[in-house]
Amino acid sequence: MNKRSVFLLAVLVFFCFGFAEAGNVIKTKVPKREKSQTDVLELRCDPIPVVRVAFIGLGMRGPGAVNRMTNIDGVEIVALCDVEQDRVEKVNAMLEKKGFPKAKEFYGTTEAWREVTKLPNVDLVYVATDWAHHAVIGVQAMKDGKHVAIEVPAAMTLQEIWDLINTSEKTRKHCMQLENCVYDFFELTTLNMAQNGVFGEILHTEGAYIHNLEPFWNTYWKNWRLEYNIAHHGDLYPTHGLGPVCQALNMHRGDRMRYLVSMATKTVCIPEFIKKTTGRDVSKEFQNGDHTITLIKTEKGKTINIQHNVATPRPYNRMYQLTGTKGFANKYPVQGYAIEGGQLSKDIVKNHEDLSGHSFVSEKVKAALMEKYKFPFQRQIEDKAKTVGGHGGMDFIMDYRMIYCLQRGLPLDMDVYDLAEWCCLIPLSEISLKHSSAAVEVPDFTRGAWDKLDGLHFAE
Ligand SMILES: NC(=O)c1ccc[n+]([C@@H]2O[C@H](COP(=O)([O-])OP(=O)(O)OC[C@H]3O[C@@H](n4cnc5c(N)ncnc54)[C@H](O)[C@@H]3O)[C@@H](O)[C@H]2O)c1
Repeated sequence: MNKRSVFLLAVLVFFCFGFAEAGNVIKTKVPKREKSQTDVLELRCDPIPVVRVAFIGLGMRGPGAVNRMTNIDGVEIVALCDVEQDRVEKVNAMLEKKGFPKAKEFYGTTEAWREVTKLPNVDLVYVATDWAHHAVIGVQAMKDGKHVAIEVPAAMTLQEIWDLINTSEKTRKHCMQLENCVYDFFELTTLNMAQNGVFGEILHTEGAYIHNLEPFWNTYWKNWRLEYNIAHHGDLYPTHGLGPVCQALNMHRGDRMRYLVSMATKTVCIPEFIKKTTGRDVSKEFQNGDHTITLIKTEKGKTINIQHNVATPRPYNRMYQLTGTKGFANKYPVQGYAIEGGQLSKDIVKNHEDLSGHSFVSEKVKAALMEKYKFPFQRQIEDKAKTVGGHGGMDFIMDYRMIYCLQRGLPLDMDVYDLAEWCCLIPLSEISLKHSSAAVEVPDFTRGAWDKLDGLHFAE
């Protein structure tokens, strides 16, 4: 192929698929922002004293969200929707049993939700369907004048990500991804420690979704999750790992992801499982590797390591690791902190064979740090969160914070650019893997406003 043909091919690929190879980094397309649009950083909307919520998707995840919302003052559950009638009726029965009015029911087809986003008496649409329906419902809900909260990952492709951003910017509606892991107690406290400089400057971070899904594969509606892993290559579930570390690194609030590279192992475990349990041979068509690693470089010279493995028999692990110039935090498999100074006695420094000098702080010091650095809102609601539950309470804190901010017209803790950054690993890791782990540019989803804000501040 001559140079002209290569150029024309690159232009064609760029316009058809949103990326093109240039130099040693594969460029990604940033669509032009329409003149009427501005960014939605720290978006404030009219306060909604009583938030009327419609739920779409009531499989394994949705009903728990409905239950959590019944524990938050100033919330009305007005509509319930799922393809399956019995799932809607079961959740409505739960509402009635708890003494709440029955919600309006929608079911029967994958398009039944279209009547829900149109309802005039809804402020917030809460989406917990399979991945294929997240973005399309989110976009329409905003167009129909609703705020939207979407389960993880909220978007699977660059097109879906940009559609959600553009719609949020045009409609001035909140579009929040329901990333619960940023509210887990260790991550929240550690974020506050990071914001108070306990770890110095954070240089390197790690996060992961390592969860053997073998016991769950057959429990998803129409097998959607397994089919997605059969059809796609890449980190398909990056947000639990990325969310907490991106917050600690102030992503699009002073720094931004510039490019990434991904590498994956071959595929073994899931096709074997499918063959064993159903007799179906997917070994030739199965796309995803068992273990995927993505490395990301940021504008300010930081690095992020994100891993995905839903295939092999390993203990659950989200890694969550912060490496700073003055300290270190780690959640899995050992939860703890190491802080400069406090650890290294003179003797230990002299004797570099003694590795205990590099250990975590004692459990007593850790407990004191975790008590000192709780966010005020965490202190206020952690007991209730533990009682209501949802992954030990973090799910409740997520819902509580979203409703708290909506009721007061405050910016939400997570905006549509967080959603974009945490989901973009799905399509970008796939591009990198298809090009022998080539570097892929991460688009600036704020379109030039990534250093407008000075860090992440939870609204009070
Ligand atoms: N944040 C977390 O910790 C967490 C945990 C589990 C699942 N999730 C996410 O929650 C979502 C749901 O997962 P799940 O485990 O409940 O899956 P599921 O298969 O059990 O439930 C999905 C439900 O969506 C319904 N549905 C599908 N298309 C629909 C449509 N067009 N309109 C209305 N309903 C529709 C299905 O009938 C089903 O009841 C997924 O995005 C998943 O990634 C997040």
